[in-house]
Amino acid sequence: MTVPTPTIAPAQGRLGVLAVGLGAVTSTLIAGVELAKRSMAEPVGSLTQMGTIRLGRRTDHRVPLIRDFVPLASLDDIVFGAWDPFPDDAYVAAQRAGVLDGPRHLESISDALRAVRPMKAAFDVNYVKRLDGPNTMGSVSKRAMLEQLREDINRFREDNRLDRVVMLWAGSTEIFLEPGPAHVDIESFEKAIDANDPTIAPSMLYAYAALLEGVPFANGAPNLTVDIPALRNYAAEHGVPISGKDFKTGQTLLKTVLAPMFKARMLGVSGWYSTNILGNRDGEVLDDPESFKTKEESKLGVLEHILEPDRNPSLYGDIYHKVRINYYPPRGDNKEGWDNIDIFGWLNYPMQIKVDFLCRDSILAAPLALDLVLFSDLAKRAGLGGIQEWLSFYYKSPQVAPGLYPEHDLFIQLTKLKNTLRWMMGEDQITHLGIDYYLDSEA
Ligand SMILES: NC(=O)c1ccc[n+]([C@@H]2O[C@H](COP(=O)([O-])OP(=O)(O)OC[C@H]3O[C@@H](n4cnc5c(N)ncnc54)[C@H](O)[C@@H]3O)[C@@H](O)[C@H]2O)c1
Repeated sequence: MTVPTPTIAPAQGRLGVLAVGLGAVTSTLIAGVELAKRSMAEPVGSLTQMGTIRLGRRTDHRVPLIRDFVPLASLDDIVFGAWDPFPDDAYVAAQRAGVLDGPRHLESISDALRAVRPMKAAFDVNYVKRLDGPNTMGSVSKRAMLEQLREDINRFREDNRLDRVVMLWAGSTEIFLEPGPAHVDIESFEKAIDANDPTIAPSMLYAYAALLEGVPFANGAPNLTVDIPALRNYAAEHGVPISGKDFKTGQTLLKTVLAPMFKARMLGVSGWYSTNILGNRDGEVLDDPESFKTKEESKLGVLEHILEPDRNPSLYGDIYHKVRINYYPPRGDNKEGWDNIDIFGWLNYPMQIKVDFLCRDSILAAPLALDLVLFSDLAKRAGLGGIQEWLSFYYKSPQVAPGLYPEHDLFIQLTKLKNTLRWMMGEDQITHLGIDYYLDSEA
């Protein structure tokens, strides 16, 4: 089936970015964008800012920057806003998160950071048990929260004379919820809001408010949020892009590079033990078993889908896969992700691989957040509504249409993303067949 190339509206005017949660990731994102705007730092890790894309044949030598190829909003046109249960502005939030060096990366842009003051959060401690801040809407009904969020979006849009808005969930990981009767369609969802049904989490209210206001929504945490039939269908029917879940940053990023390699080489895996120590607020929230369960599900699914044990039972049918996250305050945002992988090769001889990734969580997440914001805005201007599977590249548990399995292999995800950009701009797909080069030379 050939899908016609979409018409893309230009990226004119100002783009509002509403972050749910003004914690480590959001404050690092804002600071990085402000520094990059002033040419005081490079947006390392961001495909939209630094990545290139090959067009046409290898011999054509057409490899523009992605941002020169597709019409993306300029960093200069971005205006940030946020909600958070803590009243700290982005400057204080960045200092408290301790990710960035104050004298080097915060002082020179302190005015811009101080200008981002969080709106009152739609927060309920039952969904994030380790937090309780004073800057909330209080214990009002879910309907009242939804209406307030819609008002907040519109006020933010008007006050800042914005042309478009995108919403990003960079809030804490909520407790584990499974899709249930309240989520099947928008009628049931609406009724459940009125009944203050406990299966409607605050994150769902943010997502619904975004969709009702025509605002694309990207979910950086593993919460169910917008991954329920009611909101997926609403987004598709109303032409609003959605994507999620859970930024693919540290350990899972490595997993989705290593596991495809084992499968590509038909090497067996008998065990994969992953442990993490981290000491930021995210780590504290994940110390609660109910929030950890949400994260665990997101981290565990990856191997199953990549290795396909049912198709390769002798290689992967008996894997022991374990994921641990331990809250360890001395490390702050500087996480250590340690993996022990037991593999086997020819004649079943065992081997081991140890990976010790001393990473910086928010340094890895901020560029993903920026790309998601810019690509979600692009998708909206291209008239693409509903699940944006081409953004799977950024997520640990990519959202996909019902009946499809998620694609986890990082390089397949990248190919999918770039081919989507090529399709949007009317360029040929790159299949990597390459036989034409040899046929041509013989002709
Ligand atoms: N940093 C990474 O590498 C990474 C990777 C994958 C996923 N994530 C997820 O991204 C999210 C943000 O991570 P972080 O390190 O910035 O965490 P953080 O704890 O520093 O920030 C989260 C912020 O969300 C706020 N919050 C909680 N509930 C809220 C609500 N209902 N409304 C508005 N704000 C709310 C908290 O007060 C907090 O300030 C977490 O869910 C984390 O699991 C992060």
